[in-house]
Amino acid sequence: MRQCDRSTPRDWVDNAVRLIDADTQRSADTHLLRYPLPVDWGIQLYLKDESTHITGSLKHRLARSLFLYGICNGWITEGTTVVEASSGSTAVSEAYFAKMLGLDFVAVMPAGTSPQKIALIEAQGGRCHFVQRPPEMYTEAARLARECGGHYMDQFTHAERATDWRGNNNIAESIFEQMALETHPVPEWIVVGAGTGGTGATIGRYIRYRRHATRLAVVDPENSAFFGGYETGDPGYQTGMPSRIEGIGRPRVEPSFIGQVVDRMIEVPDAASIAAARQAGRVVGRRVGGSTGTNLWGAYGLIAQMLAAGRRGSVVTLICDGGDRYAGTYFDDAWVAGQGMDLAGPAAVIEKFLATGIWGG
Ligand SMILES: Cc1ncc(COP(=O)(O)O)c(C=O)c1O
Repeated sequence: MRQCDRSTPRDWVDNAVRLIDADTQRSADTHLLRYPLPVDWGIQLYLKDESTHITGSLKHRLARSLFLYGICNGWITEGTTVVEASSGSTAVSEAYFAKMLGLDFVAVMPAGTSPQKIALIEAQGGRCHFVQRPPEMYTEAARLARECGGHYMDQFTHAERATDWRGNNNIAESIFEQMALETHPVPEWIVVGAGTGGTGATIGRYIRYRRHATRLAVVDPENSAFFGGYETGDPGYQTGMPSRIEGIGRPRVEPSFIGQVVDRMIEVPDAASIAAARQAGRVVGRRVGGSTGTNLWGAYGLIAQMLAAGRRGSVVTLICDGGDRYAGTYFDDAWVAGQGMDLAGPAAVIEKFLATGIWGG
């Protein structure tokens, strides 16, 4: 009888899964905030506040799922160095889990990543490694992992499959449960951005699985490849350009972006994302990140269309992360001017919409 054993000790794995589960057990779900719109519109807008996760963004869910996926696949075990390509937020969350498990963590990020994110990664004992051109992130992370015998987490490939899309407290299940007692419990639209595309994939699949009528809109910033890839149906579509809205927008269509579950894509200018983030911060009472502004710009446009069509209903979008990470960029007038952006135009569009329900000029 030919036999071949590759069994490895399970003690570390057992304990690692327990530690992650215990962390989940100690954590509360994120709030679904009501965004104030004129009551007579009959349309409600909700913000799922993912900035209240312990590591400050929606990437906390992803990092937890990616670690569990890596551990349960046998890819991550005692002593494994974990390497990730990230525009920052995922690395902040992964550094937290790596520290919890006693693993070394290396983040490969674009050189322009905000100092606040770098500080958060380093505070968790993570190391930061920079590339000059964002598209180099992937190959550089894979190379570093290979060289140290570590594991390249690769959120861009694995985000869509590491999350349990049928439920298990994923973001989609949480949204629908929290909406249950609202006037319009099944949203007309859910609006998200795409960095990996994983959040959109989870929500789009869940909508179908639960047979909801909700449609999924994905908002995409300037220079991002997702919109062009969706429009042309070409998964190989590339812009090769970085996005100024950190966390979303990619130079290539990421493997975790599942365009088939997306009902509509909306292009959002960067100045509009930033104007919307600033305005939402004033309403919510604290700063929100740029990708939240992108989400809101898309949500406002959809609500204006619902109003024009005489429809009532609800729209849900996300606060992806807080705005303090972007104090030196989106909230700094000198940085905005240096980028050649003028926020006055989009700010006026938002103001008019909130006062009249009418979108654009
Ligand atoms: C701040 C921020 N917003 C939105 C997203 C988009 O999420 P996803 O990667 O699930 O598409 C990300 C992550 O990529 C992010 O970091």
